Amino acid sequence: MELEIRELKPTIGSEIIATKQDLLSGEYGGQLRDLLEQRGVLVFPEINFSDDEQVAFTKTLGQFAPEMLDGGGESVHRISLDKSQSASADYLRGSMYWHLDGTMNEVPILASILSAKVLTPTGGDTEFCNTYAAYAALPESEQEEYDHLKVMHSAWNTLFYYEPETGFDMLDQMMAIGENELPLVWKHRSGRKSLVLGCTAYQIVDFEHKESIRLLVKLRDWATRPEYVYRHKWSVGDTVIWDNTGTMHRALPYDPGSGRLMHRTKLEGEEAFA
Ligand code: SIN
Repeated sequence: MELEIRELKPTIGSEIIATKQDLLSGEYGGQLRDLLEQRGVLVFPEINFSDDEQVAFTKTLGQFAPEMLDGGGESVHRISLDKSQSASADYLRGSMYWHLDGTMNEVPILASILSAKVLTPTGGDTEFCNTYAAYAALPESEQEEYDHLKVMHSAWNTLFYYEPETGFDMLDQMMAIGENELPLVWKHRSGRKSLVLGCTAYQIVDFEHKESIRLLVKLRDWATRPEYVYRHKWSVGDTVIWDNTGTMHRALPYDPGSGRLMHRTKLEGEEAFA
């Protein structure tokens, strides 16, 4: 059987219509992986996976990445800003700002798979931008200029987005996580290139601070222009996968007490930043 595939935006996002049984059979794993790399985001409307099915589906696409906060087993991770609902609620405050996951690691996760369980009455859509398409559309002179730049990333930088006057103890705790120097332009094994930006990026190496901020903001603006962005308005039961290596994402603000709850699984990364 052929998968039914519909483009959501010209540069990002495809909707897949398939039965659960087809998806769980594993027969389409390779095709979905290729499509994910090309389209950045795959949407499975109201597929209504159970937790076990989500884990099984994830494993048809690559190597399941265990969630350390949940003890490292093969289970879904609860995503909510409500501390009584999610072990990572505090950390997730950074999820409202453009980012990719794993900028503190040499090899970031390949993909996240998110399923909507409880929705919020207002806000809470998730936006994705295609950082391959944004890079490809830059003038050649700018591509050449950016290709060799390095950028410092840190988890502590995200604090200044959601808690601008953060206390010293919190800053100190986040600073203990460290920093990571990454290329501004990721040269993937496939030969494609994508921009590595987001709220963890705080300083372009060897740039004067003001010039560094100017370029980071200019490029974030560029990468998140409407033509590179897909905004997903959730229905309960939707599952969305995104290629963490060629996109950035953010949740739009919502009330932490609204009950919004997503279940997430992840695929292990297969390629180091380069
Ligand atoms: C995330 O950043 O992984 C969470 C996205 C969301 O809650 O919509």
